Order: sequence, then structure tokens, then C-alpha cells
Amino acid sequence: MPPLSASPTPADIASLSNAGGDSRAPVGIFDSGLGGLSVLRAVRAQLPDEAILYVADSLYAPYGERDDDFIADRTLAIGQWLVGQGAKALVVACNTATAQSIALVREKLSIPLIGVEPGIKPAALQSKTRVAGVLATYSTLRSARFQTLLERYAADCRFLCQPGHGLVQAVERCDVGSTELRALLRGYLEPMLDAGADTLVLGCTHYPFLDAAIRDIVGDRLMLIDTSVAIARQLERVLAQHGLRADRPAETAAPVLPRFYSTSDGCHQQQLTRSLLQIEAAVERVVIPSRRTAAPDSQAA
Ligand code: DGL
Repeated sequence: MPPLSASPTPADIASLSNAGGDSRAPVGIFDSGLGGLSVLRAVRAQLPDEAILYVADSLYAPYGERDDDFIADRTLAIGQWLVGQGAKALVVACNTATAQSIALVREKLSIPLIGVEPGIKPAALQSKTRVAGVLATYSTLRSARFQTLLERYAADCRFLCQPGHGLVQAVERCDVGSTELRALLRGYLEPMLDAGADTLVLGCTHYPFLDAAIRDIVGDRLMLIDTSVAIARQLERVLAQHGLRADRPAETAAPVLPRFYSTSDGCHQQQLTRSLLQIEAAVERVVIPSRRTAAPDSQAA
């Protein structure tokens, strides 16, 4: 698929921006790759009347092992691109991007922003053994934002924090159940079970797609905490606060399908969207340059 369009200029952004608040405009959802589709699934269930633009930055995934400046640079560029496409609100459906850059992006964009963070609070509320595992990217786990979350909620609960090296890459190639993937997961999860954990925080939006493989290993010994439904509810509240909820379409109107974009070829995105979300839709390739990725196919880190 040929690239569709380049990054909008500031003038484009100003003229297309929905900072004025058009409730008919779409919601932008973005992730480093395919993980944010787990958030999109929850948003569609909660807010079926909202139009959605989804961007997967798969050319540069995974973010989890990138430096902070790179992650902030990409998050801002994609946020600006989505504003340029007319998005009325932005969901940063990536724990890593939220942890590293939400404050900066909030400062620069004029639309309401919703970030995601690992479900430490619900885990601390629900764990009976007071031992909980957290699976997240290395970048999320080492972020100041995550450390603050832990300090706030982990007073009487022990959190076993495990970087999920290799898991994002697996989902990006649509591997949600191979033998290699299961071995990787077993290596991460068995020490948590041995330590008495009864709860597992899925601290990366890619991981809900691994729930069947995780269940095969842990059975019902771990309660899985996935925050996608909470994010969808938060989006609903924020849209309502800003008077931006989409009107209910006429009974006869066809359901709105999200528009999917990828900075890569989009093949795996289309496959995952079809198999796990039961959505049949094209993925358009886009070029979204940023300071750290001046050339479209640059892999600069
Ligand atoms: N889905 C992203 C998250 O929630 C994955 C980040 C990555 O690309 O490493 O953190």
C-alpha cells in the first residue's frame, strides 16, 4: 500500500483542529502498534456511536525498549497528525507512551487527552494474598509515573514487576499462542505463582490479546487486570464533560467502522483486526514524520 499523506503543517492543524469541539468528529486512538486495538474494542463496546481513527505506529514498535525522547517525539507527532485529521479527543492507548510523554503531549495539544496506566490500584484493592504480578514494558516499569503509582497504592501489597520482553513483538507478528510465546510467558508467570501472587496486572495494551495463552498457564490462579473497559468509561466521561458525545445515528444508519492507519504495511493489523476483533476493514499506510524519524523508513532510536 502506498503512503497516504505526510504530517500536516501547523496551518493545516489550525484549520482542521476540532479544538472548538465538533461532537460529530472522530475520536483518535493511538498505540505503538496493535495493542491499542484492545482499547478500541472496549471503546466500540462502550461508545458504539463514536467514529474512530486508529493509528498503529508499527514501523517503530516496540516503544518499550526505546529512549524516552523517542517515545515522546512519536507520541506528539501522531497526536498532532490525528488533530490534523479532525480528531475531537485522543486516547493514548499505550502505557509506555503515556508513562513517558502524556504531560508533554497534554501541554501541546488542544483536544482532550486520555492516557492509560497499569491497573495497580484495582490490583491492590482486589488481591487477597497481597502479592500481585505486573507485566509491562521495561520503559513503563522504569518510568517515574509508574514508580509514583506504586508508591501510592503498594503500601500493603507486594508488586512483582516483570518486563515482558518479546511479548509486544509476538503480538505485532500476530503470534498469540505459539510454543515459543507460551514458553516466554511461562518464564514470566511461574515465578509470580511461586511467590504467592493471585493477581496479574496486564500493564501493556498488547497483553490482553495474550489472555488465552496466559489462562492456559495460570488457570484461574491469577485474576487478570485489564484496564481497557475503565479507559472506555473514562473517555465517555471526558467526552460528556466537553459536550463532545456523538449523537445517536438514525436507526437505519449503517454502523460506523473505525478507520485504521499504520506507519507500516498494515498486513498484521488487518489480520489481527479480523481474527480478534471480527472487523473487516482496510488499513491505510501513512507517513508521519517526526524530529527523530525524519526519513520515512528511518529506524533511528
Ligand atoms: N501497547 C504498548 C503499551 O501499552 C506497547 C509498548 C511497546 O511498543 O513496547 O505499553
